[in-house]
Amino acid sequence: MTSVLVTGCAGFIGSHLVDFLLSKGATVTGIDNFRTGKRNNLASALANPRFVLLEMDICDSSLLQRVAETYDTIFHLAAVSSVKLSVENPALVHRNNVDGTLNVLELARIRDAKRVVLSSSAAVYGNPSSLPVNEESPLNPQSPYAASKISAEEYLVAYGNSYGIEPVILRYFNVYGPRQTCSEYSGVLSIFINQALNSEPITVEGDGKQTRNFIYVDDVVRATYLASEANRARGETINISGSEAISVLQVAQAVLSAVGQTSSRIVHLPERKGDLRDSIGSMSKARRLLRFKPQVSLNDGLRRTVEWHQLESCSP
Ligand SMILES: NC(=O)c1ccc[n+]([C@@H]2O[C@H](COP(=O)([O-])OP(=O)(O)OC[C@H]3O[C@@H](n4cnc5c(N)ncnc54)[C@H](O)[C@@H]3O)[C@@H](O)[C@H]2O)c1
Repeated sequence: MTSVLVTGCAGFIGSHLVDFLLSKGATVTGIDNFRTGKRNNLASALANPRFVLLEMDICDSSLLQRVAETYDTIFHLAAVSSVKLSVENPALVHRNNVDGTLNVLELARIRDAKRVVLSSSAAVYGNPSSLPVNEESPLNPQSPYAASKISAEEYLVAYGNSYGIEPVILRYFNVYGPRQTCSEYSGVLSIFINQALNSEPITVEGDGKQTRNFIYVDDVVRATYLASEANRARGETINISGSEAISVLQVAQAVLSAVGQTSSRIVHLPERKGDLRDSIGSMSKARRLLRFKPQVSLNDGLRRTVEWHQLESCSP
């Protein structure tokens, strides 16, 4: 691995990926417009001479002028990643996730990038008819966010077919860990941890019986790296999911015990629009093509995430 580009480098997953790639000896250029990303997430990267930060928007027409180098791999993570925000403002999500992806793919084409790894989402499956959901399952977007990810995936495939770029599509399931923000637009685990640490009620949307496959961010980063290296991953779409299925209610209880909080109550709010009932992914393709298996258990991951929340602010 030599020279790589990471879009969304200051975000939750992107910043961990940058740290990992630097630790592997790569030279990394990162792009971020700091919409949700934080400079603090890049504290260690910014001290590394092999890291260059370009503060800019991927939708910007000056992308090509500002990014003049050739990269072996482009990791494309920049996106508006909130289902809730996509329901409120679909045009914003389309611009960032679809137009932005097209701009990044143009960059890949003109600068002769070898491989583009797209961070897509399990949201593309909607509510599948059988679980665990595998990569052949029909796509059924329940939110504009899901539609934007399907569109980004299709552009990636088309650029692979038209221009010979090697596309790899990763469908992440529920990712959690340090650096995840905790606004109403964020992932459920960071919201719950923040509520528990502040002795606030844990707000479960719906009946809490929705099931999820949570995966710790270090595992996602390792899978993303393997996808950039493995020959067998070329042109493939691969689920990246945790191995333990758990209901949202059980997660709320696990958070309370990880935080050691006995006074917080669990309260139920109306179901969230665009939310999925069950999101459990089959990992057999990731195992076969990437030799990937998650290593961090939910208990360990929760403990590490709670420790981070106790030291750092998760507010956006
Ligand atoms: N967190 C999850 O559970 C999850 C699950 C499935 C898929 N994903 C995908 O993984 C990727 C990373 O997600 P995350 O959780 O780290 O989200 P995040 O919001 O923390 O990171 C996204 C980053 O992209 C940047 N960004 C957004 N629009 C941009 C633009 N137009 N130009 C430049 N930078 C821009 C943001 O500032 C942020 O730093 C996203 O593509 C998301 O859709 C995440």
